[in-house]
Formats: sequence, C-alpha cells, structure tokens
Amino acid sequence: MSAITSVLVENRVFPPAEASMRGARIAGMAAYDAMCQEAARDFEGFWAKLARDHLVWTRPFTKTLDESQAPFYKWFEDGELNASANCLDKHVGTPVENKTAVIFEADDGTVTTYTYKDLLLRVSRFANALKAQGIQKGDRVLIYMPMTVEGLIAMQACARIGATHSVVFGGFSAKAVNERIIDAGAVAVITANYQMRGGKEMPLKAIVDEGIAMGGCESVRSVLVYMRTPTACNMVAGRDKTFEDVLKGQPDECPPVPVGAEHPLFVLYTSGSTGKPKGVQHATGGFVLWAKLTMDWVFDIRPDDVFWCTADIGWVTGHSYVVYGPLAAGATQVMFEGIPTYPNAGRFWQMIERHRVSVFYTAPTAIRSLIKAAESDEKVHPKNWDLSSLRILGSVGEPINPEAWMWYYRNVGGERCPVVDTWWQTETGGHVISPLPGATPLVPGSCTLPLPGIMAAVVDETGKELPNGSGGMLVIQRPWPAMIRTIWGDPERFRKTYFPEEMGGRTYLAGDGAVRDKERGYFRVTGRIDDVLNVSGHRLGTMEVESALVAKTDLVAEAAVVARPDELTGEAICAFVVLKRPRPTGEEAKQIANELRNWVAKEIGPIAKPKDIRFGENLPKTRSGKIMRRLLRSIAKGEAITQDTTTLENPAILDQLAERN
Ligand code: WT7
Repeated sequence: MSAITSVLVENRVFPPAEASMRGARIAGMAAYDAMCQEAARDFEGFWAKLARDHLVWTRPFTKTLDESQAPFYKWFEDGELNASANCLDKHVGTPVENKTAVIFEADDGTVTTYTYKDLLLRVSRFANALKAQGIQKGDRVLIYMPMTVEGLIAMQACARIGATHSVVFGGFSAKAVNERIIDAGAVAVITANYQMRGGKEMPLKAIVDEGIAMGGCESVRSVLVYMRTPTACNMVAGRDKTFEDVLKGQPDECPPVPVGAEHPLFVLYTSGSTGKPKGVQHATGGFVLWAKLTMDWVFDIRPDDVFWCTADIGWVTGHSYVVYGPLAAGATQVMFEGIPTYPNAGRFWQMIERHRVSVFYTAPTAIRSLIKAAESDEKVHPKNWDLSSLRILGSVGEPINPEAWMWYYRNVGGERCPVVDTWWQTETGGHVISPLPGATPLVPGSCTLPLPGIMAAVVDETGKELPNGSGGMLVIQRPWPAMIRTIWGDPERFRKTYFPEEMGGRTYLAGDGAVRDKERGYFRVTGRIDDVLNVSGHRLGTMEVESALVAKTDLVAEAAVVARPDELTGEAICAFVVLKRPRPTGEEAKQIANELRNWVAKEIGPIAKPKDIRFGENLPKTRSGKIMRRLLRSIAKGEAITQDTTTLENPAILDQLAERN
C-alpha cells in the first residue's frame, strides 16, 4: 500500500510536454496570462465574446451581466437559446452529424453506439412523449435513472422543451426521492424498473413508489418507466407508463423551445452543513457556455478524441461532463453503466484499451481503490493493457493525494499525459480552478490556477486576501456565468450560505479551505471548512447523518457525526451515539451498530452508512452544552487528546468513545 500511505510528498513540477502544447487551445502560460489579463481589463467584454462564439442563440443578448440585485447575478439575460439545440441540433449539417456521440458500455460489457443524428432523433421523440404527458416549459421533472443513454436522453429531452430536470442519484433512498419531489414540486418522475450494477439487478421503480407513498407528492401526475431489464415491476394504472408506451407514434422531430438565458436548466440537490439538502439552481445560458468552454480549455477536446468521464449522471460531474459538455463540444464519449471493480478491477483499463479513450476523467477514490487492487493482484494492474491512446487524465471530487497522483501519472498515463486536477463544486457548474493541459506546469496534489475570468482567492473571515503560504477560505470574488443562481425556493438561504455579510455580501464562499503556495501562487485545496463530509467524492452533511440516526427514535437518544481521514475513501463517517438503553458492548454493540448502518442506508442511501459507530453513555459537551466536535474528531482519528477536557462531566466516556465496533 506504499503508493497510498506514503507520507512523502514529491514536490516536483511537471512542465507541459511539447506534445501537449502542440495545437492546444491555450498553449503556454503566456497565452493563459493574456486571457486572464483580458478578463481583468474588460470583464464583461471577455464573457460576451465567449458566449457569442461558443453558443447558438435564437435571440442574441444585449446585456452581459446584471449585478443590480447581487448576489442574484444575471448573465445574458435577454438572450434566448435552448440547451439541447446547443448540444445536438447545432451539429446538423456539419461533419459531426454522423459522428459517434456515445459509445455505451453496459454493465455486462455489451456495447451500443449512437451517432449525433441518432441522439437527436431519440431526444426529439422522447421530448414529444413528455409533451404528450402534459409536461411543459417551466415544469420540474425528477429523474431517477441508471447510468444509461436513456438517462442522458431524458435530461436532454427536458431541456429541449424547457422543463427543469432534477436528477436524483440512483443510490439515494426513497425518503430522499420523496423530499426532492416535494421540494421541487415535480410534475413527473422518469425512472427505470431496475438498474444493473456489478452483475446485480437493483430496484429503482420500487423506490420511487415507496417515496411517493410517503406522502406529499400530489404534484406528480405521471411516472415514466424505462424497462432496463425484462423483470416486471409494479405499475400504477393511470399514473405509470413504460417508455415504449409513451414513445409509441411520437413524431421524429421536436423543435427545441427557446428559453431565456436565466431559465432554470436544472435543480440538483446537494448537501450543506445544516438542514436538508439544498436544490442548487443553474441557468441555461451560463451553464451550457461553461460546460462547452471547459471541454475546450481543460480537456482541450479535439475532433478525434474519445472522452470518458466516469461520473454518474446523478452528480453534477455527470451533468457537466456527460450530458452537456461533451455533446456541446461535438465529442465522442464513452458512457459506462457499471462499476470499476466488475467483473474485476481491471475494467477501466480494459475499457480504455477497447474504446481507445484519449481523455479520461475520474475520481481519486476510484484511483486509490484501483491502486490497492493492482498492488494485491498483478493481473489487474494497468500495465496489462494498451493505454497508449490516452492523452489527458483528469481528477475530480476530492483532493488527490500526491502519491495517488504520481501513480495515475506513471501507471495510467505512462508519464506522457498531463493530470488535470479540477477543483469545482455543484454550485460552480463546472471547473473553476484547474491546470490547462497545454500550458500549466503541474504540481502533484495542486489544482494549480483559476481558469481565465475566475477571480478566485484565499481570504480571512472578513474577506481580506491572505498572503501566499497562509491557509484560509477559498472564495471567488466576481461572478461567473455558470455559478449557482439560487437555492430552489430559498433565496435567503442562498444569500446566507454563499455570500456572507462579513465579506461584503458579494464574494462567493466555497466552503473549502485552501492555501496558495509561495513559489507560484498555486492553490491547494485542503478540504471542507464547514460540516460537510466528502466520502468517496460524495458530499454529505454531518447534520443529515445525525438527523437520520436520531430518527431511529426507539433506539437513539443522541448522535454526533464527524469525518476522519480514510486512505481509500478520502474521508470516512464516524458516528458517536448515545442509546436510549444501557451502553452496549461486544457482540451486542456490533449488532446494534449494523442495525444503525442499515437504517442510515435506508434513510439517506448506502453512501451515507457510517464506517465507524461508537457508543457512549453521553457525548462530550462544553459547559454551554455544545458538542465538542474537535475532540470527537481527534477521538475518531485515534489521536492523543490535546484539548482541555477538565470541564467534562464524565471523563470516562472518552475511553468509551474510543472503542470501535
Ligand atoms: C466539493 C464539491 C466537483 C464536482 C464533484 C463534486 C471537493 C471537488 C476537488 C479537487 C479538492 C475537491 C471540495 C468541494 N472537491 N473537487 N479537485 N480538489 N477538493 O461536487 O459534490 O458539489 O462537492 O468536493 O471540497 O467543495 P460536490
């Protein structure tokens, strides 16, 4: 496990290779600097030109940025366009029309390909089917689909008719589905009978049924079901219809509905430090512009590239870099239904060879687990496959440790491919801090520099910029086109969460800690500074997991959740629990811990299962009754306690809470 656990940080610099610079969109640091200067000199002009060059507008915008109601910024507001037209129709009559848009590899290895023309036809027919269900511009549609082309088509079809999609990751629970339907006021749900992952058939429709049955979902008029497998599922008469049923007789053409640039393209729920997940609302113009631009800038996508982003469409990465970005860029992309370890941990490498992937984008967690697999089984080491098609590697979702970076660079990229460590968030809509493959000298573990036009900085609590070398809060000081517009239905929470008064109310606070290095001003993101967890690149709130635990009212009196570092998943969830019965030990403790894990999986989803559950007679609190989270974090890590514990009523609980189950 040396590659993962070694604490040695190689502070090496990798300048862009000649081959990466040749023909790159942004070639060399001078070109990058010039773009940054242009953005600083004429901010609006910079963005206006990009928006005109990269998007097809049915009605041109006349005003680029409206800051009058900051932080509710508006971009290209009087312009009109359609997101789906910018991904599909715009290629009609060009050589891209007959190019492969998607190479879909199913869980069992079956491959299906779709040209741009094929996709346009399928999206149009499905869009017509949505209209026939009475779904209209402005309606919200919840999508709970497997990682399949049909999921992509469903999203594109919504965009085509101006409906706002809200995708819920297929690993989330019935309760999560219920809460999101209610919050978004969804009029329809698009789902599948089952999903296939790792050779297993897992229900989706049954979870939708359960979610709707929890109540409050009267807004849902129809449930459309893609029959992914031959297995029947429950169908509610009048409400539920299969794709086959609704597609029957639908015309092949569906004119894209022009919408205003600020029209909500989608709402995607993500966790915050308090309360329920928030619906991050994105605007059509800015989002699609950014998806397209970052495909060009960060992936330097070229006509014969084969792009593969391994993210699920249920996360923002799947929105930006599966459903919109690659299509807007006219690229060929691989879409994969399954998991990296089935039938074995060589699946990714095998697929890169099979489809001649040239730009590969995945998460550090996946890399770390594949390192581990390769170290214990030679047969799944990437060296067994021909990966010479690769040109650029990308990383996303969490900080990548320099050791994993080096392994990825050497063993996957053959020391030939730049690794773009892209820092961004659901809220930013796309990459905001990232190396450019043909320009930026790379430093393992650093996401390097902001993209042109992104005014990122590291500041103190008052918003004052800190000198390089000092750790602080990561902020973005000026708006950018793909930024979150609001939290669906809760503008006040939006303002409070992201634009704190203490910083002047106009600076975007990311919620991450960061430091810029002294040599280059490169950013190194150190992780969340709020109560948000990042487990395998999946974002969860500590409060969410705590609420789920205390919802087990017959058993749990109190719970506190913290993160501890984990060499595979980045962070792991550690829950400290006080039961409504005497503190269990031994076998009983193990059994209750498992019961609670399964309970949390049911409440939120399996990704939220605490790895570690510990029981105490009570929790460590300050005199004023606040849970001492810093102390709990130390206990979770197994560190020596340096905090002052003299105020603890019952110091014996520290030993109790150190015991793992
Ligand atoms: C949080 C956002 C980015 C899309 C997928 C996750 C962490 C993300 C990096 C990176 C260090 C990263 C941050 C961020 N994060 N990428 N390259 N280096 N940290 O989106 O679920 O909204 O999570 O993921 O902590 O705030 P998300």
